[in-house]
Amino acid sequence: MRIKFQPSGVRGDVPAGQTLLEAATALGVEIESVCGGRGTCGKCRVIASGELSGLTDMERRQLSEAERAAGYRLACQASILGDVSVVVPEESRISRVSILSAGVERRVDLEPWVSRRVVSIPKPTLAEPSADLVRLEAVWAKQWPEPLKPTLRALQQLPLAVRAAEGLVTLLCADDEVVRIEPGQGPPRLLGLALDIGTTTVVGYLLDLETGRQLAVSSLLNPQTRYGDDVVSRIEFSQHEGGLATLQREIVAAINHIIEETVALATAAGEGGISADAILAMTVVGNTTMQHLFLGISPAALAQSPYVPAMTAAQCLRAHELGINIYPDAHVWTLPNIAGWVGADTVGVLLATGIYQDQEIGLAIDIGTNGEMALGSQERLITCSTAAGPAFEGAHLSCGMRAADGAIDAVHMNEDVHWHSIGGAPPRGICGSGLVDLVAEMLRVGVINTAGFMGDGEALRNNGQAKLADRLRQIGRQRAFELVSESQGAGGRPVLVTQRDVRELQLAKGAIRAGIEILIKELGIGREDVRRVYLAGAFGNYIRPQSALAIGLIPHFPNAEIIPVGNAAGSGAKMALLSRSCREQAMALIHSVEYLELSARADFQQEFAEAMLF
Ligand code: FES
Repeated sequence: MRIKFQPSGVRGDVPAGQTLLEAATALGVEIESVCGGRGTCGKCRVIASGELSGLTDMERRQLSEAERAAGYRLACQASILGDVSVVVPEESRISRVSILSAGVERRVDLEPWVSRRVVSIPKPTLAEPSADLVRLEAVWAKQWPEPLKPTLRALQQLPLAVRAAEGLVTLLCADDEVVRIEPGQGPPRLLGLALDIGTTTVVGYLLDLETGRQLAVSSLLNPQTRYGDDVVSRIEFSQHEGGLATLQREIVAAINHIIEETVALATAAGEGGISADAILAMTVVGNTTMQHLFLGISPAALAQSPYVPAMTAAQCLRAHELGINIYPDAHVWTLPNIAGWVGADTVGVLLATGIYQDQEIGLAIDIGTNGEMALGSQERLITCSTAAGPAFEGAHLSCGMRAADGAIDAVHMNEDVHWHSIGGAPPRGICGSGLVDLVAEMLRVGVINTAGFMGDGEALRNNGQAKLADRLRQIGRQRAFELVSESQGAGGRPVLVTQRDVRELQLAKGAIRAGIEILIKELGIGREDVRRVYLAGAFGNYIRPQSALAIGLIPHFPNAEIIPVGNAAGSGAKMALLSRSCREQAMALIHSVEYLELSARADFQQEFAEAMLF
């Protein structure tokens, strides 16, 4: 069947029976699909005409009568029966997400585990015609105690290299393996890539392994998001036929894109000797599911109690085994996972903050769809994870969206509402940090009470806050607060926050707060003992600490400094790339850090119920 997408103009032939979303994916047209095509998020709205299947129940639920009359369909629900034409409106297109790449940098001594060793191999003679490798071994043994371990590729390079520069060769070693042999002094640069695979975004840092300098950074939206926005929907998709292979292929393609881009960026910045082939080492952090998908290992067991991963230990692979386009024998290290829902990204945060070496007690929180937390010091460190739900990432809210252009990310209220939208674009929705700000302000001015209920506006009016009261709406059976009017919103759509959205936030913050309270109890400390609170990740970086305190997301720690640490997981990956000790510390952490399974705690429900209140 012929299909045509506007405004991109992309057209193609697709089989009958495919959904519009499947056809769009096949033809490279990007459409938001937060719920992974289950029909529950309503983000894949398109205007379609032609021969299509009838409206589904999901579409009746998600689309207003006016939208249905205007030809709106959910791309994941409408199947193609004949030739069709599709308009993808602005609000359904995947926009550039603001990706946080910078993170706290703790000083590390450069101690690379990739090295260059220059040796001079004597020429063979008729009297002593020993093999190239034998002569190399003899030279090697005089300088290094460990045995010489060349890869097959390095052996293949040896005879030509040894004869090209009168026996002077450079051995490039990754840990105790010789991965490459080059004539003379070898390549001008030894490069490494540190990679943070987030559920939503992927960030790569290109580093010079001999100076420790960062040469370029590149990031993109994790392409797996088109198969589901959150970890659970990815795990579900991985269980479909071919699903796991698809998700792995997508992430590898994204990494290869990042490699190309970092190389191009560094070259354009005037750096010499940059090529993908000069990348000899890579470290990877990500949550446990992302690590499994990257390695093509089924994460299915992570979704069922007792949430067991296939492996927790760090893995060392060769780039060619994974299809990564760098030097084929480059070592690719995935940092270890602590448990099924506390992954290598948390290990990265621990490395970057140094909390595990500190004498004073610190709390590190990385908030996304899941909240991973670690509390303690060098004496004892406990981690846990809570299913915060997607509210902090802006998903599953009536007007929620990722932190992309047009997302409201900050709100302030006095007699009326003032907001800021990312990129100054007309507002399309609200992201997590905006929602926390909004709810904190709604609570402060009395739009909601401490139980989270929106009033009818009378109290506001009596209080002289008529403009705020005028923003309250009754939509069906629930109240809503109009943050942005139709005339101000992108595409003539208002941005509303409903009673249900506030409830979603309460559930999310309740889960995080309950996790923190249980960690405090388990460690047997008081709030006054905590000296530092590290907020990691994009959400932690952009959230206003006073708003997080106001809604009770984090308790008040009277002696603690609140420190946003940015993409600390990525910083941890860089540290492990530049320092063998850091990498070894990361590997040791999984044996020393305790993991607390909150669902096994009898007091979790009680803590959670209390923490739901504002
Ligand atoms: Fe279609 Fe979510 S409703 S992708």
